[in-house]
Amino acid sequence: MRSRYMWIPLILVIIAIVAGFQYIDWRQSGTGAGLYSHDWSPDPIQRYWDPVNFYKAPDTIQGVLEMAQCIQCHEAITPGIVNDWKASRHSQATEAVTCPDCHGSDHEQLHLPTPEVCGSCHTKQHTEFLDEARHGFPSHVLAMDRAVDAPHFVDKPKAEVQSCVQCHSVATKCDSCHTRHRFSAAEARRSEACITCHSGPPHPDDETYFSSAHGQIYLQEGDEWDWSKPLQKGNYKAPTCAYCHMDEGRHQVTEKSMWKFGIKEINPNTSSNKVLRERWVKRCTDCHEPQQARQWLKELDLERKSAWKKLYSAESILRSVRFNDAFFPAAGDRPTYPSSTWDRYFPRERIGFYEGQASAFYNVSPIERDYFEMWYFENLGAYKGAAHGDKSMVTKNHEAMDNSLQQIKQHAETLLKRKDTEADKTTNKKLWLEGEYTEFNRENN
Ligand code: HEC
Ligand code: HEC
Ligand code: HEC
Ligand code: HEC
Ligand code: HEC
Ligand code: HEC
Ligand code: HEC
Ligand code: HEC
Repeated sequence: MRSRYMWIPLILVIIAIVAGFQYIDWRQSGTGAGLYSHDWSPDPIQRYWDPVNFYKAPDTIQGVLEMAQCIQCHEAITPGIVNDWKASRHSQATEAVTCPDCHGSDHEQLHLPTPEVCGSCHTKQHTEFLDEARHGFPSHVLAMDRAVDAPHFVDKPKAEVQSCVQCHSVATKCDSCHTRHRFSAAEARRSEACITCHSGPPHPDDETYFSSAHGQIYLQEGDEWDWSKPLQKGNYKAPTCAYCHMDEGRHQVTEKSMWKFGIKEINPNTSSNKVLRERWVKRCTDCHEPQQARQWLKELDLERKSAWKKLYSAESILRSVRFNDAFFPAAGDRPTYPSSTWDRYFPRERIGFYEGQASAFYNVSPIERDYFEMWYFENLGAYKGAAHGDKSMVTKNHEAMDNSLQQIKQHAETLLKRKDTEADKTTNKKLWLEGEYTEFNRENN
């Protein structure tokens, strides 16, 4: 009798697991992609950035065509493409790789080459690329999932988030670093190949690299280097992005990351981080003494420690504001993410990485936005300055963090006082919850 009942919890658990998977499947089954696929539909350009999910061939040209026909006709309509292809290793290989190899030969069923198509010939690079997934986020292979699974991807009008996909398409096609239709390894070895995406306030890799000793040498002498050589010891005087981040041409960028994006504090001294650190030291040792490299990486840790001290002070101020229920407007008085049912019924301001603030930088009160900028722009700028050897970027951003902290302190005092005078919080509610912008979003994603 008793053993019969013991099955009940087990069965319930199994049902819950199955239902959980079904729920996730359902969430991904809408017109868009990812966890919010029911809340958005793709613009036409999406078919180029994420061809696996969205590509549809045009039906203007009909029939199965020969390679010579592709070239002849496209020489007239898209001469740049044909010229680039002619100048590429693909057209010059003993067995030339031609248009139909990547696009198919039936013009009504063309496809745009996904990593799998390139991987059918370039197994090594493709395997390395897929294998990156085991290092988790951030990484190139998971970049598209990361973008479309972010709540702020669906929370804003589409026009404002399409740019996400352009950069995050590094996961869904292979022409990010060696661009079509040259597909040149030499191009990918240079630092410019990365900075179309690795730029801007949350990831100023371009600024910090070009201001560093390495970047300065590259800018002054790089044009004279022989870029046909692989990224290996002895071939280059100063390193480029790929030299440091893609060990000897390995198609992975995450296997050495300790601080990763810089948005949360890590313990740099765990045994697994020591392994990562030694990988970095090995890279630097192509050109520097190992002791020197360890010292530089230690300075990066010290910079991080100091940044986190400031960030934690700001977070604790925000927590005390929340504890006193003094945010204005408070979470319940402003629009929630359309997709977040939880937030709608249990509104709560999110503070810091673990509460998901990275995705909550719109629709917040001014003091939260100030902290967001301190954390996302100033902190991340300081990290990249320290990582890449740009001292002025470190100084500038630490000064900015000091100022932000000061401002947050003062602002918190005002909010707490305001709360004591029992200001009427409801007056503005309508403005925030029923604004024109909010309405537009609800209708147009
Ligand atoms: C008679 C001329 C002609 C021939 C032959 C031809 N194409 Fe095209 N191709 C076009 C035109 C026109 C377009 C633009 C169609 C459109 O956007 O409606 C196009 C578009 C494309 C595109 C882009 C599709 C997109 O969604 O943007 C690819 C890729 C392509 N062609 C590949 C090929 C390949 C591969 C062959 C040979 C198998 C080929 N073409 C033969 C005229 C031709
Ligand atoms: C090595 C693979 C490869 C070969 C060979 C190749 N392409 Fe492409 N092609 C690509 C990739 C990758 C894209 C971009 C796909 C995307 O945006 O998702 C592309 C895109 C295109 C596009 C549409 C986008 C654009 O750039 O305007 C056209 C048109 C096109 N190719 C035509 C051709 C023609 C014509 C040939 C032969 C002369 C050719 N391709 C050969 C890989 C290839
Ligand atoms: C049908 C097989 C085939 C396909 C499909 C293919 N390639 Fe290639 N690729 C080659 C061959 C062959 C070479 C030349 C190798 C050589 O010359 O040693 C090459 C060379 C390259 C190079 C080196 C160029 C250089 O400057 O050294 C790159 C980069 C490259 N391919 C990228 C790609 C990408 C990206 C795709 C998918 C969009 C792709 N390839 C699809 C066969 C292919
Ligand atoms: C088409 C845009 C694009 C290009 C080009 C690009 N990346 Fe990235 N990269 C990204 C995106 C997007 C992410 C973050 C992915 C995520 O959300 O997980 C990323 C992540 C990374 C990371 C991991 C970051 C971490 O915190 O661990 C490194 C390192 C990196 N890229 C280096 C490079 C290098 C080096 C190059 C040039 C050789 C390059 N990337 C070219 C878009 C790009
Ligand atoms: C200019 C190119 C670019 C644009 C535009 C862009 N990203 Fe990114 N994103 C990156 C790069 C590069 C990284 C990795 C930075 C690093 O590690 O230093 C990244 C990191 C991220 C991360 C953190 C990765 C992680 O896994 O923790 C998320 C989430 C993200 N992006 C989502 C988005 C969304 C959503 C948008 C649009 C609102 C967007 N990104 C727009 C280039 C871009
Ligand atoms: C983050 C930038 C980046 C992305 C994305 C990328 N590559 Fe590369 N690729 C490079 C760099 C850098 C080199 C030169 C490596 C070297 O010097 O050894 C290269 C070289 C190559 C080569 C030539 C290798 C050789 O030894 O000649 C091939 C083939 C190639 N990549 C295929 C691919 C394929 C397939 C994909 C998609 C799965 C891809 N690449 C995506 C940066 C990238
Ligand atoms: C001298 C080698 C070197 C060069 C050159 C270099 N980086 Fe870095 N990069 C680093 C180091 C070291 C870190 C910090 C590593 C850590 O926290 O684990 C870093 C951090 C990063 C990160 C955060 C993710 C990570 O791996 O920790 C990204 C993204 C990044 N760099 C991109 C770039 C881009 C893009 C360029 C070129 C514009 C570039 N880097 C040039 C050494 C380099
Ligand atoms: C391909 C060679 C090469 C690699 C790899 C390399 N560097 Fe350098 N580095 C140089 C050169 C050349 C200089 C300028 C001359 C000098 O100071 O030795 C330099 C200068 C520096 C400087 C400025 C030194 C000063 O006194 O101002 C720092 C910091 C630095 N490198 C850090 C690193 C770190 C950290 C790594 C590994 C993540 C690394 N480098 C990897 C070649 C390299």
